[in-house]
Amino acid sequence: MQDQLWDVIAVVPASLEAEAAAELEAFGAQSLQTLRRAVRCRMDRAGYYRAHLQARLPFQLLRLLASFPCASRSQLYGGVQEAADWQGWLPPQLSFRVEASGRAGELNHSHFTALEVKNALVDWQRQHCGQRSDVDLEEPDRVFHLHLGQGPQGPMASLYVAGSSSSLHRRGYRAAMGRAPLKENLAAGLMAITGWDGGVPLVDPFCGSATLLIEAVSRVLQHPPGLLPGAALAPAHHAQARRFSCLQWPDADLGLWRSLVVASAEQALAGSQQPIAPVIGLEQDPEVLEQARSNVAAAGLEAWIDLRQGDGRELMPPPGPGVLVCNPPYGERLGDEQALDSLYHRFGRQLKEHCSGWSLWLLSGNAKLTRALGMKASRRVPVSNGGIDCRWLHYEIR
Ligand SMILES: C[S@@+](CC[C@H](N)C(=O)[O-])C[C@H]1O[C@@H](n2cnc3c(N)ncnc32)[C@H](O)[C@@H]1O
Repeated sequence: MQDQLWDVIAVVPASLEAEAAAELEAFGAQSLQTLRRAVRCRMDRAGYYRAHLQARLPFQLLRLLASFPCASRSQLYGGVQEAADWQGWLPPQLSFRVEASGRAGELNHSHFTALEVKNALVDWQRQHCGQRSDVDLEEPDRVFHLHLGQGPQGPMASLYVAGSSSSLHRRGYRAAMGRAPLKENLAAGLMAITGWDGGVPLVDPFCGSATLLIEAVSRVLQHPPGLLPGAALAPAHHAQARRFSCLQWPDADLGLWRSLVVASAEQALAGSQQPIAPVIGLEQDPEVLEQARSNVAAAGLEAWIDLRQGDGRELMPPPGPGVLVCNPPYGERLGDEQALDSLYHRFGRQLKEHCSGWSLWLLSGNAKLTRALGMKASRRVPVSNGGIDCRWLHYEIR
């Protein structure tokens, strides 16, 4: 018998909605619809659990609890109180946080909307349980998200619960941050766009904390981001990378979760047996290099990623052709523009002299600097990196 389907919103990085939808489809998601920074879909419980263990792109996977007409403060208050069996979904000993988005009718201020949802919940608890939950903004037991929008019949509210109280982009391998690191899920999405499958060498000449390489290799080896790396390879200890609040929901199925954890760990074990081409990172700064090494070790990928101190401008690639990926400094946060101009110019010259036949993907936040490469991009994918408008540029080096 087919499990009931849940309405789910995956919150994902801007411009990576299509890649995120493809990833969710592989977990059995149906009726996929890409929105701005989100993908709407329907999933059964197994797909939802698998996405928590294995999806690389979402920040959050929100499950719909209820939708109701809502244009006013009183409709919001009453609708929230009736949206779920709160005895089960929010017993007073659990802490919570409320997020809000959108607007409807007189409710046009997200902060106020979130506050009103919180009031409705704690008032309900006081009335029915005689005590109330604490609000915890950092590490709550439950995260609720209320979205206001326009439905076919008028203003509507949708109340969701997050399956993980901490953001899924935090894999847990990156104690050391390097400089201006990419978020792990953004790096994973960028690597998905390159299509690198481990068959040819992969080099990042400005690797920083090695996020692009770590995400690329763990994807190809099928290491599940929801399990701690050592745990995935030693299936006797399936330690989770975080607390998954969906495992404490009233309708949680821990037997199902357990079987999916074992399947994910076995998949990772099998994935780790396959040979992959050399993966190399260069970093000039010895301190950042050390941090990158500890990240690679924490991700359990030392056997596959070779990090070296070196100057990306003098890159001598291994026998190829292969794929180059990088996110060189671009001025918004690091380095000064004139020095950077010469760095890009030198790098472009090196590529043309020594990397003919390779393909390059470069994350640029500064079009003037990328012009200094002296090459023409064959593809430009707009992406937002920490609020900075960037392009993931593809070049075929001749
Ligand atoms: C924007 S950061 C890369 C961030 C990286 N993608 C991550 O997620 O951590 C750019 C990195 O290039 C390094 N770098 C700057 N000039 C370099 C050079 N000539 N050769 C190699 N690395 C260089 C910096 O030290 C910095 O770590």
